[in-house]
Amino acid sequence: MVAIPLLSPYKMGKFDLSHRIVLAPLTRSRSYGYVAQPHAILYYTQRTTKGGFLISEAAGVSDTAQGYPHTPGIWTREQVEAWKPIVEAVHAKGGIFFCQLWHSGRASSTGYQPNGQAPISCTDQPPPVVELDDAPEEERTPPRRLRTDEIPQVVNDFRLAARNAVEAGFDGIEIHGANGYLIEQFMKDNVNDRTDEYGGSLENRCRFPLEVVAAVADEIGADRVGVRISPFADYMGCWDSDPEALGMYVVRELNKYDVLYCHVVEPRMSVVEGRRQIPHRLLPMRKAFKGTFIAAGGYDREEGNKVVGEGYTDLVAYGRLFISNPDLPRRFELDAPLNKYDRSTFYTPDPVVGYTDYPFLESSEM
Ligand SMILES: Cc1cc2nc3c(=O)[nH]c(=O)nc-3n(C[C@H](O)[C@H](O)[C@H](O)COP(=O)(O)O)c2cc1C
Repeated sequence: MVAIPLLSPYKMGKFDLSHRIVLAPLTRSRSYGYVAQPHAILYYTQRTTKGGFLISEAAGVSDTAQGYPHTPGIWTREQVEAWKPIVEAVHAKGGIFFCQLWHSGRASSTGYQPNGQAPISCTDQPPPVVELDDAPEEERTPPRRLRTDEIPQVVNDFRLAARNAVEAGFDGIEIHGANGYLIEQFMKDNVNDRTDEYGGSLENRCRFPLEVVAAVADEIGADRVGVRISPFADYMGCWDSDPEALGMYVVRELNKYDVLYCHVVEPRMSVVEGRRQIPHRLLPMRKAFKGTFIAAGGYDREEGNKVVGEGYTDLVAYGRLFISNPDLPRRFELDAPLNKYDRSTFYTPDPVVGYTDYPFLESSEM
């Protein structure tokens, strides 16, 4: 039998992973009242393998963090308690489970904010009306620019959320510094128009993101902290004029904190002769980063095996394919056909349809 790079074991810090196929963070909009629901137990355990690594859907860090319907939070006692049985069930099957911590910043709107206030951001400029590929259409209202003296409070919200995640049983947390949300709004020069120490130079724009890293690492230990970034992306009208420099700066700074992993989203894919081409622009970052490197965005079995085999990345996170194939590692092992995903149910609130009803291969039925 030919060795399958994606199925080789890997030691990520103190975690012994049995393979390289990671469940990408995936918002599924089925957490009513911002509280994770019991149906998430089945969803996550379906996607758990012994020694497999899972990242949760983005969880809001505070009552100003939310920006979409039915997304979970992790700032109240009730929310923490609701995560516990989900995490326990994943652990019972031998999975390693991190919680992605999120603040949506200006991607939110007054309807999601306490007392109908404006969402907060580094800027008072609203995002343009361009949408994430698969995200539901959202009405947005202009944000309020955070005052300099308010920023430590937001940093502290991430710290407390990390503490809550550990209390809920998660093995660690991932800071959501990607896809046009609050942390990335600060990082990128077409959005961050501040004139204080949190805006202007690359160093200043990364100050808030790195303060979050420092706070969270101090709270739960850097060996339980991962960071997700997407320097090349332009989601939510959030882009940078020099993504290579931004990515390299962040990665080098992350080295100073000794964080466990860096998770980077590939640039958008182009399609050449009917096949998606992953741009593979992450190699300089991968080389510069001391910890575990995770690549995401557009990977299939063949591409994943290639990049792990070549040492371009340590792990590969799968999003849409893992939504529709709960037994993705098994299918990759057997090179079995994959279920197609149905975009129309990515964010619908049904607790079963498009969520836990994708079929398993007969041979890997739970
Ligand atoms: C339904 C859906 C929800 C997503 N939710 C999140 C999220 O909560 N946090 C995040 O960092 N990325 C999120 N993403 C992005 C994915 O993690 C991943 O980067 C993206 O789907 C590209 O990988 P893929 O080609 O393997 O699907 C989401 C993507 C989809 C399709």
